[in-house]
Amino acid sequence: MPFHSSHLSFLFQKAMGKRRSASPSLRHSLWLVISISSFLFIFAILRLQYQPRHLPSARRPIVPFVGTPKIAFLFLARNNLPLDFLWQSFFQSADEDKFSVYIHSRPGFVFDESSTKCAFFYGRQLSKSVEVLWGESSMIQAEQLLLEAALQDHANQRFVLISDSCVPMYNFSYIYNYVMSSSKSFVDSFLDTKEGRYNPKMLPTIPKGKWRKGSQWITLVRRHAEIVVDDDLVFPIFKRYCKRRPPLDLDGKLNHQKVVQKEHNCIPDEHYMQTLLAMCDLEDELERRTLTYTEWNQSATKMEGQAWHPITFKYANASPQRINKIKGINHIYYETEYRTEWCQSNGTSVPCFLFARKFSRGAAMRLLSAGMVSPFDAAALLDQIK
Ligand SMILES: *[C@@H]1O[C@H](CO)[C@@H](O)[C@H](O)[C@H]1NC(C)=O
Ligand SMILES: *[C@@H]1O[C@H](CO)[C@@H](O)[C@H](O)[C@H]1NC(C)=O
Ligand SMILES: *[C@@H]1O[C@H](CO)[C@@H](O)[C@H](O)[C@H]1NC(C)=O
Repeated sequence: MPFHSSHLSFLFQKAMGKRRSASPSLRHSLWLVISISSFLFIFAILRLQYQPRHLPSARRPIVPFVGTPKIAFLFLARNNLPLDFLWQSFFQSADEDKFSVYIHSRPGFVFDESSTKCAFFYGRQLSKSVEVLWGESSMIQAEQLLLEAALQDHANQRFVLISDSCVPMYNFSYIYNYVMSSSKSFVDSFLDTKEGRYNPKMLPTIPKGKWRKGSQWITLVRRHAEIVVDDDLVFPIFKRYCKRRPPLDLDGKLNHQKVVQKEHNCIPDEHYMQTLLAMCDLEDELERRTLTYTEWNQSATKMEGQAWHPITFKYANASPQRINKIKGINHIYYETEYRTEWCQSNGTSVPCFLFARKFSRGAAMRLLSAGMVSPFDAAALLDQIK
């Protein structure tokens, strides 16, 4: 016997207490009400699932800080910090109550007299550190660990990420005043219009409109550092969908499956912070540029079929003229947004870059001897030659 809608309504009437007197039109409207409410119910469930629920904005109370604010220098190292002699000289000319140092290196690496020439690095290695695979989400984890450790000290009000090949191009007081005079973070962030990095599987958590790209080397204000540390919504998505470029097979070719993966090889450290801050609607609180100069070798593209890579400054190409040229840059053009960023800090025109990478030891020594980082210190240089 075929199952009819009249049977359904009969069952329904039984369930409703055998109200056999209900007219056909009443029955009809009851059905209508039930269908509409089930639809609304399903719609509400879907909406709940598709709404970002845990964006970490404003989770912690804002506690105003009284006292001398510090800049936390957060070093991301593979092993040691080869430009330690330069940082020694840099920090030596600084007020000790205006900065702090945190280092993330490979687990087990200890900074002491035997491993570094910079006394400010002694014992500053995080006790909790992770094995970092360059270009993978473990890099972001290392950055989160650095921020988390530095947030413990309430005097830390700015957080600067520094690589092991990065140098300051100014003395401490100049950098301190520049960074502190702005209430904004410095985060290079722009629309990434090229297909391939954004993975549609990141929907609905990460909408395509919030996908950003930019330099890994950022400076954050305290509230933004808290947001990065508290994020348990966006980071897991990056961890899941952002993998580094697949390795070549033994015969030097990519197999097909790996090529498919590569289409969404999104390199978390060039996207995560920018995208998270955009998702939290905080772009008004950013100077959307980096403070760290990187020079790209464009000729490498065609020759090796790989992405641009940064040029390493050596003694020969780190002349004072070259450095001064970098220091003279006062604007940056962002092609994907047709945006020219005239570099400012708290509304005043400033040079765009305070730091530069990648520097060899020879190039760093030349910078030191030119007296750019601290008053010229012959003793420090002699110490290097010994
Ligand atoms: C730091 O550098 C700035 C700008 O280069 C300079 O004007 C200032 O005198 C320097 N300060 C010290 C303490 O060397
Ligand atoms: C920013 O500039 C304004 C006006 O020029 C000034 O009053 C304020 O103190 C500056 N902020 C900081 C943090 O230096
Ligand atoms: C740029 O890359 C090419 C190819 O890898 C290399 O031969 C050249 O030396 C690099 N230039 C600089 C300035 O590093």
